[in-house]
Amino acid sequence: MTHQNEIHGILAEYETVDGIMHAAEQVRDSGFRHWDCHTPFPVHGLDDAMDVKPTILPWIVLAGGITGLVAGMLMQWWMNAVDYPYVISGKPDWSIPANIPVAFETTVLFSAFAALFGMFILNKLPQWYNPLFRKERFSRATSDRFFVVIEAKDAQFDPKKTAEFLTSTGASAVELVDVPDEPTSPPFGFKAVAAIMTALVLLPPAMIAASRSSTTEETRFHLVPNMDFQQKFKAQTAPLGLENHPLFADGTATLKPIDGTIAQGDLGKSDPSNAAYSGLRDGKPVTEFPKGVVIDEAALENGREQYNIYCATCHGDSGKGDGMVARRAASIGQTWMVTNLLDERIVEQTPGKVFETITKGINTMPGYAAQMSAANRWDVILYLKALQKAQAAK
Ligand code: HEC
Repeated sequence: MTHQNEIHGILAEYETVDGIMHAAEQVRDSGFRHWDCHTPFPVHGLDDAMDVKPTILPWIVLAGGITGLVAGMLMQWWMNAVDYPYVISGKPDWSIPANIPVAFETTVLFSAFAALFGMFILNKLPQWYNPLFRKERFSRATSDRFFVVIEAKDAQFDPKKTAEFLTSTGASAVELVDVPDEPTSPPFGFKAVAAIMTALVLLPPAMIAASRSSTTEETRFHLVPNMDFQQKFKAQTAPLGLENHPLFADGTATLKPIDGTIAQGDLGKSDPSNAAYSGLRDGKPVTEFPKGVVIDEAALENGREQYNIYCATCHGDSGKGDGMVARRAASIGQTWMVTNLLDERIVEQTPGKVFETITKGINTMPGYAAQMSAANRWDVILYLKALQKAQAAK
């Protein structure tokens, strides 16, 4: 090196623990401030000899923890009680016990970050380069030698006098440490990796932002498909193309009710020869309301209620075939037709025929025997007759 280099400090080497201990005490008593000791192992008492104050890291961690606790509580309060209040099982929007787990997690998280980054900052890390590493002698700091370094930035520093002072403390060697002109910035590899990592980290938020502000016709990615795609099974039929599906022995996806089982509401009327239960007489649909079916105002009222629950969704409130389901089908261009129950053809149907339709379903209309008791089905037919009469009025 041709030109005069900047001075980093002065390095003094000691051979024993006692040697560095006494030296440290003398350096301390002389009032130096920017200096340090390097030993191959922790030396008890050296902190006192150097007058090193206890680290403030615990306080930084405490502050981080409190910040995490408050942030966790505030976050949950804002989300659950202010921004999106949502009643779950009648619980209050905001109560401390329910929010402890998350607040605990954020407390730990913020404490850990405070500990890690606080340690880095207090130790002035990351530091890419230290002129001491250029001194061959200094490599023994990790095996069997003890070193004191007084840095040039100390107010009392003077290359000659400080060197003499260190020699007088019993150093076995004293050496001037200059700053070689080498780059002190991070190595290229580090910068490259950091740039790539930063780009990768920014990728997910960029993708989220992109998909939030655009629309697409494509189906979304299914990295974890879960139950997003399922085979469609229709009740009591073999799935199309899977006629030999092994779900049940007969190839169907659901079991038929066991022969002879009776719905609770139909107990007492369960005799198949009872027309009020089966809607049949001599195997044919009855032509009038069978005996045992009560026809009164309460039945009509119940029929109205049952119709609005089970039929109006498709057939519409007035029976015209314009229920929400039918309208939705039309709005997306489906040609699916729901029968207009005010049609001559339906008005002329016998109660037994309509009973059969409700019980077993017809074409695309499902049967309602499982949901509605026989009595409810008769009541609906009664209401349907009333609807048809009312609409046909001149
Ligand atoms: C899921 C929609 C839907 C529901 C709910 C529904 N139906 Fe239907 N209904 C239909 C469709 C569709 C048709 C026409 C079926 C065909 O013949 O293609 C139909 C046809 C009918 C017919 C005419 C049958 C014939 O002989 O042509 C009657 C009567 C009937 N429904 C009564 C009812 C009653 C009563 C209820 C309530 C218990 C009800 N429907 C519930 C969709 C529904």
